[in-house]
Amino acid sequence: MKIFGVMGDPISHSLSPIMHNTWFRKYEMDHHYHAFQVSTNGVHDAMKGIKALSISGMNVTIPHKVSVIPYLDHIDDEAAMLGAVNTIIHRDGKLYGENTDGLGFLASLKTKYPNYERLRRVLIIGAGGASRAVGLTLSKHLSDVVDYANRTVEKAQSLAVETRQYGNSKGISILEAETQIHNYDMVINCTPMGMDSVNERLPIQLDGVTPDTVIVDIVYRPLKTSWLQHAEHQGCTIIGGLPMLIHQGALAFQDWLGFMPEVARVERLLQSQLGDSYVDE
Ligand code: ATR
Repeated sequence: MKIFGVMGDPISHSLSPIMHNTWFRKYEMDHHYHAFQVSTNGVHDAMKGIKALSISGMNVTIPHKVSVIPYLDHIDDEAAMLGAVNTIIHRDGKLYGENTDGLGFLASLKTKYPNYERLRRVLIIGAGGASRAVGLTLSKHLSDVVDYANRTVEKAQSLAVETRQYGNSKGISILEAETQIHNYDMVINCTPMGMDSVNERLPIQLDGVTPDTVIVDIVYRPLKTSWLQHAEHQGCTIIGGLPMLIHQGALAFQDWLGFMPEVARVERLLQSQLGDSYVDE
């Protein structure tokens, strides 16, 4: 039996324990996955604890994805590119850091939108850690243009400077994004706006969007945000945040245990957990 987990703050609403424990049962493994509440002050002890308690693998979520790095023996190329780690592998007494967020997004896109190769021009709303993971990965692996729009436009511009090592990129204002939206094949919300329906203001208005634009939200609670509902009314293909969550988890599972778990059944399970009838396929 091996112990895995996720550390973050807050962590009580994490879906990762249900996801990984479901896979363990499905593949008749007696491993266990636990959500660890770790405050910023607790990161040092938690990282020592992984070795002391022989925990086999750990996911890392907000706000610790950057602060765990000094405790790792090695980080892979993806984690180095993103400057953040979401998966730790404990093997032969050493801690290896990886990042499956961007590649998880890419895998979910391939599953949900088989025609994904046409998505050459992409606009990302937001300029935080999630925007960085999705934007750099798309620029490196798929798209010709990855632009960022953000409330604080300077942050969008500095992310664009980094992204230009892979392709075309610029930072723009929310207003510019709204007037230029017809120029993009895909628009992705990487801000928390719309989460838990608390903030009904949309990340950007969608009046100018055309039906051939794919609209993506990384928010998965609720499964279909107001923003996605607006996009659907405009005739756009929509993709919610749950597939990305599951694919980043599946890639972490593969890093730990050596094979890719199935995702379709877990997706249906988590959809029912989130209490919504929306199925985006
Ligand atoms: P994460 O690392 O998870 O991506 P983050 O670093 O807090 O989270 O980034 C959140 C992004 O959403 C930021 O770009 C933020 O805009 P600012 O850079 O201007 O702070 C954006 N964001 C968060 N709440 C927002 C709101 N209410 N309105 C507009 N943008 C918001």
